[in-house]
Order: sequence, then structure tokens, then C-alpha cells
Amino acid sequence: MHAPQLPGSVPILKNLYAMRTQPLATLSRGLRECGDVAYVEFPGHAGHMLFHPDHVRAILVDNAKRISKSTPGFAALRLLLGNGLVTSDGAFWLRQRRIAQPAFHRAKIYALGARMVELTERTADEWRRAAESNSTIDVADSMMHLTLRIVSDTMLALDIDKDAAEVGRSITFLLHELNERIVRPFLPPLSWPTPRNQRFNAARDHLQAIIAKAIRDKRANPDSKGGDFLRMLIDARDEETGEAMDDKQLLDEVGTIFAAGHETTANLLAWAWSWLARFPAARRALQRELDEVLGDRAATADDYPKLPYTRMVLSETLRLCPPAWFISRRVEQSIDLGEGLVLPEKSLVFVSPYVTHRHPRYWPDPEGFDPERFTEARSEGRPTFAYFPFGGGPRKCIGDTFALVEATLILATLARRFEPSLPVGAVPVPEPVITLRPRGGLPMVMRQRASS
Ligand code: HEM
Repeated sequence: MHAPQLPGSVPILKNLYAMRTQPLATLSRGLRECGDVAYVEFPGHAGHMLFHPDHVRAILVDNAKRISKSTPGFAALRLLLGNGLVTSDGAFWLRQRRIAQPAFHRAKIYALGARMVELTERTADEWRRAAESNSTIDVADSMMHLTLRIVSDTMLALDIDKDAAEVGRSITFLLHELNERIVRPFLPPLSWPTPRNQRFNAARDHLQAIIAKAIRDKRANPDSKGGDFLRMLIDARDEETGEAMDDKQLLDEVGTIFAAGHETTANLLAWAWSWLARFPAARRALQRELDEVLGDRAATADDYPKLPYTRMVLSETLRLCPPAWFISRRVEQSIDLGEGLVLPEKSLVFVSPYVTHRHPRYWPDPEGFDPERFTEARSEGRPTFAYFPFGGGPRKCIGDTFALVEATLILATLARRFEPSLPVGAVPVPEPVITLRPRGGLPMVMRQRASS
């Protein structure tokens, strides 16, 4: 598919090999060399890449009704998530979003805070044992396990511990495979029984069997503790027909929350630990805040507003390492961006938190880790869409508050007691596969703090 190239855009991002092997560096070069609009070609598809915050807002908010998720990226995701909240579109998506929304109200999330901290204590125990034997921890793995445990327990009433390692391996494998399908659109369809497809189908079926069991258990014990989100979906009835969601739809929605609800937050936390290891001044400022606000006691959801520095560490991590680093859309009706730029119907359009979060006009010293750039005073005058780690407009992340409360409580609980350090010479490298993960994991040493 070839979109006509806009007059103001520069076709510098046509180097397919570079786009496939080094998308972050290539897109960043796009901003430097092309300015705010670039023309991008991926294998099999092409479109415009918009870097300017006003253009990001124009796409995600102002023209939300003129775009869709009919893109190669979402087509790949549908192979795993079916037609759940992340991948569905139009009137169907809106109905499902309205059903799910009440589970994500702030008060509901705060009510889960105590359980989030309780589950984090298990990770603290594991880290304490590792610290006592001077062992290295794969922090990426550890955060994946913890956020999986939290979303499974709080939203789905599912005890995942015995399956967690296998789930982690399956999700890593599936994300790499989906990424391959986006950059190599000519792979045989999943219905062909190639060894590669069989492995994909087996990993997906394994995850779906876990979700299906959670649904069966909740149906059998509707009053069991936790999992209000799941019960709400099971109980939801269509306003017009009075019908419940069918089993396939329920599976897609629950599987979407299971996957979207842990992987991104785990990456955010893994990156936060890596920045804290590299920037001792930020680490000390964080420890000071935790010592002052919490002292020796456990964090609670009520502490969330009282931990501004902890939250700024997470905001700055989301700026530099946004787990959702790339967002794609299809233009269904042409979009006028002003100044002669009109995105044609049926073309693709892309925005990237990773690149716009480094736009030098809005972010001085863009590569530097500086949590205090998020103070009120220093944020003044910055356009809202210079920063959009959770997307924006009607398709904005439904789990943003869940993720931020959870990540703040986890970081507060663990950073109060442990101090991270990277092996000498180690520099974590981001790997952009659907989400932005640390390539090959994140081995670190977590020392116990003297006061803990
Ligand atoms: C740091 C953590 C997270 C990040 C960075 C993140 C990022 C995003 C982004 C950028 C989108 C919009 C995608 C697009 O416009 O194409 C999105 C959508 C979504 N996210 Fe998150 N997310 C996070 C955590 C969560 C959590 C914890 C949940 C659930 C418990 C969740 C569930 C969803 C769902 C269901 C959607 C689709 C919403 C819709 O279209 O109605 N996310 N997320």
C-alpha cells in the first residue's frame, strides 16, 4: 500500500532495513532530518509520521472520528487479543468501553491499593533472600511476575503464581512473533501448519486456557473474593437486547486486560530501576521522600498524592522509555492539518511517544534523566501532547490510573528497602517489539538499604 506523500514531508525514512532493524534510531533521525512530518515506508505499507504535539492532538483527539485501527499493527495484535478493547473499533468498541469503564474509577483503583502492596511484599521477600546471598535478580522478569500477579488477583480473582513463569515466556515469544508479522507481512497465515505457526498457536492457546478457567471459576463462584472486574463483565447485559457477552467476546476482553494490564507496567518499572541505578542523585532524592513520608511503615493508596518525587521518577521514565512507543491509525476520511497538509483518505498515520518525548523544542537536554522537569513550574507552557505515554482522546488507555497507582506503590514499597545497581559496564538497551522492553532482560543487584 502506498500513500501519496505530502508536499511538506520528506521521504527520508524509506530505508526499510533501517526501519526494521533500528526503528528507534531511524525515527529519531526522522525528526532531526525531516522536521515535524516525515514519510515512512515499512515493508508492505507506508504513511506519514507526525512528531509535532499539535499534530498528535489533531489525530488522537480532534479527528478521532475520522481514523480507525485498521492498520497492519492492530491486525497483528488481533491474532492474539481478538476483538477486545484495545483492538476493536467503532460503535462496538464504544459499547464495550462503557461497560468496562466503571471498573477503572479512581475510587475502585484506590480500594485495590492495599492488595497491591500486600502482593509486592512477596517480591520484597524474594529480593531480600537474593540480597542475603549476593545473587543477581532479573528485574525485568521480577516486575513482570509481580504486575501479572497483581492484575490477575485484583481484576480476575486468579492465582497465577504457578503459571507465571510460563505465561512470561509465552508473552515474550508471542510479542516477538507479532512484531515479525508486522515487519514481514508475507509470513504464511496462522492457519497453515508450519512449525512456527504451531508454536504460536500453542502459546496463544495456553494463555487462553488460563483465562477461560478464570471465567469458569468466577461463574461458578460469583461471590468469591476479588475479581470484581471479571464479575462485572460476566453480569453486563446489552441495553437493547438484554443479552450477556458471548464466551468468545468475554475471552477477548478478559485476555486483553490480562495482557495489556501487566506487560506495559512491568516495563515501566524495569526501566525506572535502571534509571535509578544510573542516576544516584535521583535515587537519593527518591529515598529521602520515602523516608520522610513512609518511614518504616507500608505504603497505602492514600500516600499516592503525597509522593510527588516518586511519581516524577515514573513520569520521567515514561518520557524516555514509553512502553507503548508507537501508535498507528488509518485515515478513513481525509484530515486537514492546516498549512497545506492534508492526510489523504485510506493512508496510514503514525505518532510516536518515544520520538515526540524527545522533541528538542519542548524537552531541553532530551536524553537526560531529570524527574524534576515534571514540577508544575517547569511544565508550564509545555503543550499537553508533547507527552502522551497513555495515548489520548477517546482511545486513551483505560488503565492509566491503575498503572500509575500500582507503579507508585510498588516503587515506594521496594525502593524504601532496596538500592539498585547494574553490573559494571552494563547499559540496558531498549528493544522495540510492540512494547519497549529491555533487550535480554535486566540483571541487577538489589542491596538492602542500611535502614531497612
Ligand atoms: C505504564 C502502563 C501502561 C501504558 C504505558 C499504557 C499505554 C497505553 C496506550 C498508549 C494506549 C492507547 C493505544 C492506542 O491509542 O492505540 C493504551 C490503551 C489501553 N490500555 Fe493501557 N497502558 C498501560 C497500562 C494499562 C493497564 C494497567 C491496563 C488495564 C488494567 C491497560 C489497558 C488498556 C486498554 C484496555 C486499552 C484500550 C483502551 C481503548 O481503546 O478503549 N493499560 N494503553
